[in-house]
Amino acid sequence: MLQTKLGVIQLENPFILASGVLGVNAALMLRIANAGAGAITTKSIGLEPREGYNNPTVVELGGGNILNAMGLPNPGSKDFVEEIKEFKKQSVKPIFASIFGKDCQEFCEVARIINKAQPSAFELNISCPHGGKYGAIIGQDSALVEEITREVKQITKKPVFVKISPNLTDLSVPAEAALAGGADGIVLINTLRAMAIDITYRMPILANKFGGLSGPCIKPVALKCVFDLYAKFGKKVPIIGVGGISSWQDVIEFFLAGASAVQIGTALAYYGNVEQINLFSDFAEKIKTYLKQEGFTSITELIGLAHENSEM
Ligand SMILES: Cc1cc2nc3c(=O)[nH]c(=O)nc-3n(C[C@H](O)[C@H](O)[C@H](O)COP(=O)(O)O)c2cc1C
Repeated sequence: MLQTKLGVIQLENPFILASGVLGVNAALMLRIANAGAGAITTKSIGLEPREGYNNPTVVELGGGNILNAMGLPNPGSKDFVEEIKEFKKQSVKPIFASIFGKDCQEFCEVARIINKAQPSAFELNISCPHGGKYGAIIGQDSALVEEITREVKQITKKPVFVKISPNLTDLSVPAEAALAGGADGIVLINTLRAMAIDITYRMPILANKFGGLSGPCIKPVALKCVFDLYAKFGKKVPIIGVGGISSWQDVIEFFLAGASAVQIGTALAYYGNVEQINLFSDFAEKIKTYLKQEGFTSITELIGLAHENSEM
């Protein structure tokens, strides 16, 4: 009832761990997989190890919303290959390797190294709002997005998804570029560029001055992005919806807007306590009940329904 697919990738349920939240080593990724996630996305991995920005890197805003400017800290591609291999030894669940680079050549180097671990798919992070030359600046250059996607597709036989920033006027521009480069699906959205200022010190709170906003407050933005992209491309382009999902009803909304699966980030890490990882099984039960009550046999029957129903 909850099975879904993203091109050739079969998921036992549509709940995927979002990149950057807990997906930093095999042990944590296994914990999330064993707690009931349908798939895992790794922290974004670059060529060399990176420490990220100085503290403060996170500001809690209340209501489960946060601002972060981690600065893409990660152990580097060579070390991370081992984490993916370890995960694969202990779990059959799909693992999406999120990667970043400052240019096409660096993306390709990372993809070549990570491909040795044969992740189930790649997710290209071209959309980090605080990643400087490694971030959303790449996603603003359509020719580069197309080139990176095309080149990474040459390196791996695995599906390649491209994650897009909401900080753009028209998201279909980078999405079209990614699809022209052969992308197998689109991930929407990364965090929204934002900041917080301390009124006592009268300075930005984050060491990086600004960061990315996530949590329930961005859900309506993410939902509109998914709706718009589905309106443009329809069912033929798998969309993974992400942004502010914190309840089972949110998951249903994303499916109705056109998503074929969803990612969950902030709700897992910053929404309460460690027990929060039980949300996967909780969502699964509640969505099954909803589907039964409403007369559906599969969650996939909901994909894009809000479009059809608004045309009637
Ligand atoms: C602490 C933190 C770190 C993140 N790191 C990454 C990252 O490394 N790569 C990436 O593509 N997205 C990263 N994201 C963005 C999330 O994957 C997701 O797109 C965004 O947070 C919106 O979803 P959410 O509201 O469910 O968290 C990060 C988000 C947070 C909160």
